[in-house]
Amino acid sequence: MQGGVGLTAYLVNESRLRRPDLAEDGLAGAWIPEDGRRDVRELWQEFADAVYPHDDLVVSLRGRVIADTLAEALRAAPGTVLVVCGAGFSSYPWLLDFPVAVEVDLPEMAEAKRRRAAELTAAGTLPERDVRHLGADLAVPAERAAVAARVREIAAGRPVAYVAEGLVFYLPQDEARAVVALGAEFGTSTVTAVSYWPASASDNRVLERQRAWFRSRSVPEEASHLTRAEVAALLGGSPDDLGPEDLQRRYLGAVAVPESELVPEYVAVSWTRDTAGPGAAR
Ligand SMILES: C[S@@+](CC[C@H](N)C(=O)[O-])C[C@H]1O[C@@H](n2cnc3c(N)ncnc32)[C@H](O)[C@@H]1O
Repeated sequence: MQGGVGLTAYLVNESRLRRPDLAEDGLAGAWIPEDGRRDVRELWQEFADAVYPHDDLVVSLRGRVIADTLAEALRAAPGTVLVVCGAGFSSYPWLLDFPVAVEVDLPEMAEAKRRRAAELTAAGTLPERDVRHLGADLAVPAERAAVAARVREIAAGRPVAYVAEGLVFYLPQDEARAVVALGAEFGTSTVTAVSYWPASASDNRVLERQRAWFRSRSVPEEASHLTRAEVAALLGGSPDDLGPEDLQRRYLGAVAVPESELVPEYVAVSWTRDTAGPGAAR
């Protein structure tokens, strides 16, 4: 298992695996080989005991609204190219039949994902998909620019659906803003879905406990928080901006756990209005 910020990819993978009803990620269980799953399960339990026991709820809800958004984008424009930054062990390119997907993560994680995806495809666990795994540090402006250039080349004018899930709070403030706005660099963005922690929740008690746990695990504990207004401005409009209570209402019919007891993760979804697709009709 990778240390540093890469550790978080294992945690959230386990969170989705624990709520198949909510996450609808039937491939979550495949990413970690059987001989490593026990360690990940133990890590998750340690995190649950020290920080909060509801990461499965928060992560599965955010993943579900993103999966639903991507399915809508694909229905509206079947030629859509998928771009996922901070992809970790998420499964979107294999759950939904995009003609091509680009997954970006730190080089070591991108390589681990590429290798595991190849193994799982050879075993018939994953369907054949055209997925390009790019290693890049998205906190570095030149590396972001290189990613954007590569996406423009791959998309070649096709619509792009852009996801940055569980990522931007790990970046310094200015770099977080730039990653939120990165879809604008792709030339043909139709929808952006970004998760973030709002500035209004920077004193959240769960985040306070998470910082202490991250410290004990050598995961950088500094986090960036963005105001809801600045996320809207960066996305160039008025996104659907849903917090964990909104998402519980949408997918569970009621709020089972209040935001004060959760990582306050919001998902902003913004459709580009001047392109074909659902955004045009809104
Ligand atoms: C919490 S995980 C989320 C993974 C995935 N999006 C999901 O929801 O399952 C955060 C991911 O962001 C990646 N990441 C963190 N900092 C990064 C950076 N500077 N550049 C690229 N990726 C980064 C980590 O390696 C990790 O895979």
